[in-house]
Amino acid sequence: MANVLITGASGFIGSYIVEETLRLGHTVYAGVRQSSKLNNLPLDKIKVLTLDLSNQFSLTEQWDKLSNDGIQIDYVIHNAGVTISSNAEDFDRINFKYTRNLYWSFADLNYQPLKFVFISSLAACGPGNAETLAPITTSDTANPITAYGRSKLKAEEFLKKQQLIPHVIIRPTAVYGPRDKDFLSLFKALNIGIEPYIGNQNQVLSFIHVYDLAAIICRMLESNLKDITYNVSDGQPVTVKEFTQTAKRTINKRAIPLIIPGWLLRLIVSMIEIKTKITGKPSNLNKDKYKELTAMNWSCDTGELYKDINYMPQYNIYNGLPDVLNWYVLHKWL
Ligand SMILES: NC(=O)c1ccc[n+]([C@@H]2O[C@H](COP(=O)([O-])OP(=O)(O)OC[C@H]3O[C@@H](n4cnc5c(N)ncnc54)[C@H](OP(=O)(O)O)[C@@H]3O)[C@@H](O)[C@H]2O)c1
Repeated sequence: MANVLITGASGFIGSYIVEETLRLGHTVYAGVRQSSKLNNLPLDKIKVLTLDLSNQFSLTEQWDKLSNDGIQIDYVIHNAGVTISSNAEDFDRINFKYTRNLYWSFADLNYQPLKFVFISSLAACGPGNAETLAPITTSDTANPITAYGRSKLKAEEFLKKQQLIPHVIIRPTAVYGPRDKDFLSLFKALNIGIEPYIGNQNQVLSFIHVYDLAAIICRMLESNLKDITYNVSDGQPVTVKEFTQTAKRTINKRAIPLIIPGWLLRLIVSMIEIKTKITGKPSNLNKDKYKELTAMNWSCDTGELYKDINYMPQYNIYNGLPDVLNWYVLHKWL
């Protein structure tokens, strides 16, 4: 069985990748930072490494130390990343430069990992055609509309130019599952009788449950797949209206549609951005998020993904939303 380094192990997706990697019988080296909260990690089953991704040389020292103890990292799943920031430079530094640091930290060793799996995002490509609503494919010309998307694309482009370690790029669409906070806001609104809509109700979205995403990522490790990019969704795109109404049926509450007009949302976003500038505290609603939320087409073509890994997603929103809602209720988040 292999030694797998998982960066961002303390985060929402990272903690599920850890669980799946353990389930497959591998040894997990959970890369975290000093300040990370470890409460979602099975600490008795994993080895925790405090990493400074800003410092390539300190990372190399860590691999050297492990190597002196006879341990080599066989696979890297680089999942650490920032999704919310008030500062575009943070995205570039954390999502691009830290990826480069981590990759290069293996360069001077006398062994290299067998594969470097990079968790990018569909945002690296940007939304699909708003008129044809054709699903986004990996061969589409990337046109990210946010600083976040541009930073992920830059990291992808860096990896594609490297020869040292074979890579796989995973571009998940919106990820949900137990412990996710984004879907919680929707359920909270529905719970108080509001069925919220932003922008056009015919907007097409795609989703992936975190259990499926973790399974997909881990299937990349020992496969022959390399130097390849995959878009990841459950393969069942839905309109915003269908999605919201499915959530409403799931929570089984009466709710009145509240259509937030574009001008009002832009005003709210401008006010939040002023508050962010004053307090320095990033909000998950900002100008970039507005662009993402209102883009017409986030439908996603998964290409040959499921054939290549011989796996079918276990969840779509129809069985995934009840799963998440049950978790929120059980854990008194709702
Ligand atoms: N959630 C989605 O819908 C989605 C969709 C597509 C792609 N992704 C990608 O999936 C990955 C995980 O996202 P998530 O949703 O699980 O987010 P998350 O819960 O915020 O987790 C992010 C992880 O990255 C770590 N991290 C953040 N900034 C860091 C820094 N400066 N140095 C070192 N580690 C840092 C965090 O560490 P701490 O615990 O210490 O904060 C955390 O472990 C990200 O790369 C994200 O871009 C997410």
